[in-house]
Amino acid sequence: MASAKYPTSRAALWSLLIALVLGVSSLTAPAAATRTGATAGLSCGFYRHSCPDAENIVYNSMQQSYNQNKVVAPGVLRIAFHDCFVRGCDASVLLLGPDTERSALFNKGLQAAAFDALDAAKIAVDKACPGVVSAADVIQFAARDSVKLAGGLGWDVPAGRRDGRVSRIEEASTPNLPTPNMTVPDLLEVFARKGLSANDLVVLSGAHTIGHAPCLTFDNRLQTSPVDPTLAPSFAAQLKKQCPAPNNGATQVDLDSTAMTFDPQYYKDIARGRGLLTSDQSLLADGRTKRAVYSNRGTEFYTNFGKAMVTMSKIEVLTGSAGEIRRHIAYVN
Ligand code: HEM
Ligand SMILES: *[C@@H]1O[C@H](CO)[C@@H](O)[C@H](O)[C@H]1NC(C)=O
Repeated sequence: MASAKYPTSRAALWSLLIALVLGVSSLTAPAAATRTGATAGLSCGFYRHSCPDAENIVYNSMQQSYNQNKVVAPGVLRIAFHDCFVRGCDASVLLLGPDTERSALFNKGLQAAAFDALDAAKIAVDKACPGVVSAADVIQFAARDSVKLAGGLGWDVPAGRRDGRVSRIEEASTPNLPTPNMTVPDLLEVFARKGLSANDLVVLSGAHTIGHAPCLTFDNRLQTSPVDPTLAPSFAAQLKKQCPAPNNGATQVDLDSTAMTFDPQYYKDIARGRGLLTSDQSLLADGRTKRAVYSNRGTEFYTNFGKAMVTMSKIEVLTGSAGEIRRHIAYVN
């Protein structure tokens, strides 16, 4: 699964080069933390020598968890998103505690079964190679595996992230994370803050090809009279039945019409006024995102998604000697 495209020595040279270009004094501190969104320090096949079976072990563990409970796939994929957008892809989302990100309102909907799956994968990989593979890398491997297991294509995951020691409840909210009632101008701002483009926004939103959202995240679209005009009338009627007002906010509704399968259906649905969240449907209404909605309705989506996930997985990563390799996925060492 892991490609051998970037030998470690070459990666080290590259990070040195990048650091020099950026004017960072990395000659004295070659392993300094990068919180720049740059690729420095990450490489495909990072564990090739230190834990050659790491990615297979994670995959096998994820397969077992997924077979027991299908919510593991959307659950882990969403955890990867919430990890990377809050303090970078450093596994800060996994830390337990009263005031950590995990306790934030925005993270209440993250699946317990997905946290359990990540826990199991980390334990399995630590059994083979104690203290070698970071929780942050386990999240990214497992997100890739989730997409594969749900019917999508895998991709090479650059690895070498290290785990953060800080997690703050107040950071797991806007403006780091988007809300479902946002439209494209706000969404672009949230993504641009993380160095991501309009195309990244459209392609990564395609994660909503699997999983669910509770009625309360979109029923504002139904409660006006007339209903949100971007909703196809038949779809609005269907949603009204699924979310009878009032007080049925917790009922879960499929994010697309094939919510168990990772496929391009999400975009086909949006093109027909059947996007569930305002943030989904608004992608069709803005000139900066509309074309990418149409162009991801075919098989191109599968490879586009892998590329965009790699981009997301590089946000503000800790590398070198920054952070730590967490022993337990949910606690700092
Ligand atoms: C573009 C802005 C986005 C917004 C506003 C948004 C919002 C939401 C909301 C409100 C839910 C319902 C979950 C709940 O409240 O329990 C959800 C589910 C989900 N989101 Fe997003 N999301 C966005 C982007 C993303 C991205 C970039 C990814 C991953 C790459 C992602 C992956 C998922 C997945 C897989 C689910 C289903 C979770 C499950 O069924 O357990 N989302 N999203
Ligand atoms: C989304 O809804 C929240 C809560 O009702 C509100 O505070 C916020 O202003 C809304 N945001 C947008 C972009 O409409």
